[in-house]
Amino acid sequence: MTTSPPLPLVDATAMIRFHRIFREALDAAPRFIGEVAAGDHARADHVGGYYANVLALLHAHHEAEDDTIFPWMLERLPEHAELINRGNAEHEAVVGRLEAAEEALVSWRAAPSDGSRAELLSTLDTLGESLIEHLDHEEADVVPLIGQCIDVAEWGAMSANAFQRFSGDKPWLVIGLIQEQLLPTENATMEANMPPPARDFWLGTGRGMFEEYVGALRS
Ligand SMILES: [Fe+2]
Ligand SMILES: [Fe+2]
Repeated sequence: MTTSPPLPLVDATAMIRFHRIFREALDAAPRFIGEVAAGDHARADHVGGYYANVLALLHAHHEAEDDTIFPWMLERLPEHAELINRGNAEHEAVVGRLEAAEEALVSWRAAPSDGSRAELLSTLDTLGESLIEHLDHEEADVVPLIGQCIDVAEWGAMSANAFQRFSGDKPWLVIGLIQEQLLPTENATMEANMPPPARDFWLGTGRGMFEEYVGALRS
């Protein structure tokens, strides 16, 4: 009987690159959201579509970590249970603030007034306080542990789990946002692992939709 050789461990620094999506969205909120005039429904919908999908991606990312790599890490590195469990506890601390921001976002997109805009910016600020702390901890303490015990197939399973959980309405937008941050080799792997219809859509149409959407967002 033969056994397969072990798969290579993942380059977990990809997590740090991926997290930049959230850092950049929060950093840009005062400009992207703050500059939308009261009553400008079209602009609020465009900017709001970006935030709705980024926040949906954040939900999916945290849930996928909790479902896949965190439990596997606890089994393999029990001596680091405190750090790994802290990541999970921080997700729980973030989720209420994330849902409050999502609610404020829905209100602002439906009725973009000075008041709903200020409320949205305030909820995103509050979310940022706990989210940035979590991302900083995870990148400093958990990412090195991921690189010790999670292989490339397991990393792929986490990504697949996140995509299944993703509830946004613009998957092509988040694929583009991810590809802006990851390395070319990581993007090639992502495209190779997409189901063929999704890959054909992304390469044929989705990438252009992404470029047009963020071009208008950032203009
Ligand atoms: Fe993460
Ligand atoms: Fe996390």
